[in-house]
Amino acid sequence: MLSVAEPQSQTDSQTVYFRCIAGCSAKHSIFDVIYRCPSCGSLLEVHHEREPLKKRDASQWRQLFDSRVGTTTWPYGSGVWGMREWVIPSLADENIVSMCEGNTNLFWAERLGKQLGVPDLWIKLCGISHTGSFKDLGMTVLVSVVKQMMAQGSSVKAVACASTGDTSAALAAYAAYAGIPAIIFLPAGKVSTAQLIQPVANGAHVLALDTDFDGCMKIVQEVTQDKSIYLANSMNSLRIEGQKTVGIEIAKQFDWEVPDWIVIPVGNLGNISALHKGFQLMMDLGLITRMPRLVAAQAARANPFYESFKTGFKEKISVTAQNTLANAIRIGSPVSYEKAVKAIAETDGIVEQATENELAAAAAHADLTGMFTCPHTGVALAVLTKLIKRGVIKSSDKTVVISTAHGLKFTDFKVGYHESSLEEVTSQYANPAVYLPANADAVKAEIEKRIS
Ligand SMILES: Cc1ncc(COP(=O)(O)O)c(C=O)c1O
Ligand SMILES: [Zn+2]
Repeated sequence: MLSVAEPQSQTDSQTVYFRCIAGCSAKHSIFDVIYRCPSCGSLLEVHHEREPLKKRDASQWRQLFDSRVGTTTWPYGSGVWGMREWVIPSLADENIVSMCEGNTNLFWAERLGKQLGVPDLWIKLCGISHTGSFKDLGMTVLVSVVKQMMAQGSSVKAVACASTGDTSAALAAYAAYAGIPAIIFLPAGKVSTAQLIQPVANGAHVLALDTDFDGCMKIVQEVTQDKSIYLANSMNSLRIEGQKTVGIEIAKQFDWEVPDWIVIPVGNLGNISALHKGFQLMMDLGLITRMPRLVAAQAARANPFYESFKTGFKEKISVTAQNTLANAIRIGSPVSYEKAVKAIAETDGIVEQATENELAAAAAHADLTGMFTCPHTGVALAVLTKLIKRGVIKSSDKTVVISTAHGLKFTDFKVGYHESSLEEVTSQYANPAVYLPANADAVKAEIEKRIS
């Protein structure tokens, strides 16, 4: 077995750096406060030069990553830091801010898959994480880099993000864990109670603004022009480095086999970009030999990426996002558009949308097979259902749905569904509790009615 703890290379900073996604030649240190290319304004990405990584062959990488699952050797027990060499290798152990994120369940959804007509259906439960969503994967990386920057005397004093709820929960938790102040911009009244109370409880400065997410995003970009406040949204590509491990984890959990399809709910488009980046790295290093087809699932009431897809991505379309049950993907002008277009183009991917009624029904149906799905996962499942009906996803295809958040963060949605009080939704699977007198005969009569 390969050794678990290894010294970090002195040359990491020359082989892992920010570069412009549009191809400008400059390299920027990942410890610089920089979010866009200074020449052309495009987003940056963290680039890992491939040659140094090829010093290990594919089977050595597989063996190394497999060997770290479940270890107590710091920081490799985290699903993200178990792939440290592929994330940010130059971080000192003491600067890694981790709460053992990643390594989430990937389980066979046997009954649901059979009912939908894709028996080989798997759910990747990213919501089984410290703050209840996949956002922890990116935040452990970003906050760790900030901690190292601060330890090295950087002028950064605080971290900040705009959020539809889950990003702020993750940032607030990781920042509080590291002792770094966090400033959170939320669209007032547009996040769930659980999402709102998470950063409040973690002591973040929570600013609820009278606007939507896109409005909050503008403000946070303005505020972080001051380099002492570090931008933690996914336009900061450090987030993508952590989130890309989800794809690598899926391959690892399938013993390095690649599923045919991965369906993922999208908003700002960081997550699908990250998924693609992880698979691309595995391809380049020979750990896998084909890409999965990626499906981006949007809520019809906040569907700019779907609209752009319909034009063959001739142009980036922005919309004013409408109120949707899938509130965490209520985003009208996605920041990582270019990266996501590449992800769809290079995986022969698809973008599809789901209405409020479709997403609520898909979530409730899945719950009847033992899940407890968030509304965003409902969007993904509704889109999956459409693609099966259309014959695009075939019954023999191995399909993964990424469940991005824990359903327990969205109990308002669940209660509303089962009380049949959601707008635009017919609660066909409503299963309200029955209130009875404490009387054995009444109870027996009710059971008889239901079970026989
Ligand atoms: C639960 C949930 N699902 C999906 C997404 C979409 O991810 P992205 O914005 O990176 O497309 C988000 C975040 O926006 C989210 O919080
Ligand atoms: Zn550029």
